[in-house]
Amino acid sequence: MKHKLGVIGYGTMGSWHAENVRNRIGDLDVAAVYDIDKEKREKAKADGFSVCDTAEDFFKTDIDLVLIATPNNFHQYYSIMAMEKGKNVVCEKPACLSVEELEEVLAVSRKTGKLYTVHQNRRFDMDYVIAKKIISEGKLGKLFMMESRLYSNRGFSKGGWKAKYETGGGLLYDWGIHMLDQILEMIPENPISVYADLHKVYMQEVDDVCSVTITFESGLTARFLCDLWCHIKEARWHIQGDKGTAVIYDWFGQQGKIFQTTDVGVEESVGCIYTHNGLSTSMYSRPIQELNELPLPLPENPPRWEEFYENVIDAIEGKAKQIVTHEQILKDMKVLMAAFESANNQKLVKISL
Ligand SMILES: NC(=O)c1ccc[n+]([C@@H]2O[C@H](COP(=O)([O-])OP(=O)(O)OC[C@H]3O[C@@H](n4cnc5c(N)ncnc54)[C@H](O)[C@@H]3O)[C@@H](O)[C@H]2O)c1
Repeated sequence: MKHKLGVIGYGTMGSWHAENVRNRIGDLDVAAVYDIDKEKREKAKADGFSVCDTAEDFFKTDIDLVLIATPNNFHQYYSIMAMEKGKNVVCEKPACLSVEELEEVLAVSRKTGKLYTVHQNRRFDMDYVIAKKIISEGKLGKLFMMESRLYSNRGFSKGGWKAKYETGGGLLYDWGIHMLDQILEMIPENPISVYADLHKVYMQEVDDVCSVTITFESGLTARFLCDLWCHIKEARWHIQGDKGTAVIYDWFGQQGKIFQTTDVGVEESVGCIYTHNGLSTSMYSRPIQELNELPLPLPENPPRWEEFYENVIDAIEGKAKQIVTHEQILKDMKVLMAAFESANNQKLVKISL
């Protein structure tokens, strides 16, 4: 059966959804678009979509699925409105601006029986899929530390909504939620605490650099670092276990390596490094021939973003469970809020899920 998608918010991401659904998702037609801004509505018309001039008209159309791609502060409002009007919902990330807002949305989904999910498209990124595979295949032994890093050096547009507090701007809401969702999905354990630093380097109201460390039950610490003011990039992923280290340099997983230790620990010093001001046996690295180098484990089939909407359609039809679940969306939001609390009070925040 063909489903009908309506898009609210025809900006950067809303127009991307409309175009990509039209070209890539066979069982879904883009049947209506609404944007509060007349120019955006004109653009959608010019792009060949059927456009409504008001939200009221939009919800009267026979769409059965709504994609919400407005600024973040309207996510809760439109999610609830759409489900109460009998539509299923895919909301852009972040789901909402607080746990309380989200719990209301989830309650409406349960009450109306309408599907509600969040567009966590970064679960389909090649670098992430490879990192997850390295972990799930146990290539590094018992994990104790990992970092997920993203850098750019251009900032947010100063007049834009992403630079404003009241519209849910800031890097933690913007990219932090993707990085957090990836970490929580790839580590099959409960997080127990969070410590976060948020910096306002050039933004007045919101964070433009964030560093969040999540500690899991096993003691593993997973840190994500997202930075809009970095001129020199480091590897996207750096993962360490007691049997090896993995590095993935790029978004596409084309560059990276895994080194496994063949013997762990040494009885006595095997070498020494000399610096201008001293020497160190502990910083003497193992010679490369004492390590086992593995290629990055590529998935059998490359990840497909289409799976996201295909799953939404199957879930609406009762043929599958939604892959971005309510439980995960709520867990993401709880940890995200704990990160804000930690940064605001400069303290470690315990998490109870
Ligand atoms: N998943 C991803 O990869 C990804 C990437 C970029 C953005 N996003 C998310 O998509 C959403 C939109 O971001 P963007 O970068 O496209 O922003 P944008 O500013 O380019 O687009 C937002 C659009 O919403 C419209 N709008 C504002 N208020 C509205 C309202 N009350 N009703 C209807 N329309 C309204 C604006 O006119 C604008 O066209 C955000 O939630 C953002 O976090 C997700």
